[in-house]
Amino acid sequence: MIGLLRHSDFRASFVIRASGLYLNPLSIFHFLCEFSQMRRAIYPGSFDPVTNGHLDVIERARKLFDEVVVAVAHNDEKQPLFSLKERLDLLRETAGTIGGVRIAEFSGLLVEFARAESAGAVIRGLRAVSDFEFEFQMALMNRKLAAAVETIFLMPKEEYTYLSSRIVKEIARLGGDVSRFVPACVAKALGRKCS
Ligand code: PNS
Repeated sequence: MIGLLRHSDFRASFVIRASGLYLNPLSIFHFLCEFSQMRRAIYPGSFDPVTNGHLDVIERARKLFDEVVVAVAHNDEKQPLFSLKERLDLLRETAGTIGGVRIAEFSGLLVEFARAESAGAVIRGLRAVSDFEFEFQMALMNRKLAAAVETIFLMPKEEYTYLSSRIVKEIARLGGDVSRFVPACVAKALGRKCS
């Protein structure tokens, strides 16, 4: 009960009398709404295809948030190797098996999707300084569009800092072995696409 009072900033307006404890029903309702709200983050990207680096970031994000929504962007400007459905299926087979992770797709502005999902944060992976300029620009622009949505950068394990979907696709196209860099189902899918 002490924790309850502290967390709710006394908004629950408990009336304590010598004879007992009286609770304002409306305050209890607000309190429950506030505390039942999940801490949710969006992890957006192209995921063309998902790599072990992405999965590492998802697991790190999951430690910080109750739910992580991995959101595949409909991006007409890019010409992906995998169709939207294929990318979603590969994510479902891999990240989708982690508890507290949901796979979704979105079109339009990322911040609008974050709002619609009641998510307070956007997760982005930062591998190297080269990522920084684009990520910094995107984070600040998203903040201008929706100040309530924070961007949080997470660094993957060192061994994944050189890893990207683009490089993995290039290795697969040139007949190299990608099994160390992507989950088995993705390696198989790349094999099929590139044979
Ligand atoms: O994996 P990617 O390709 O680096 O992901 C980029 C993505 C999808 C996160 C970015 O292009 C995006 O947020 N697209 C949605 C459209 C949008 O909100 N654009 C304004 C960003 S400042």
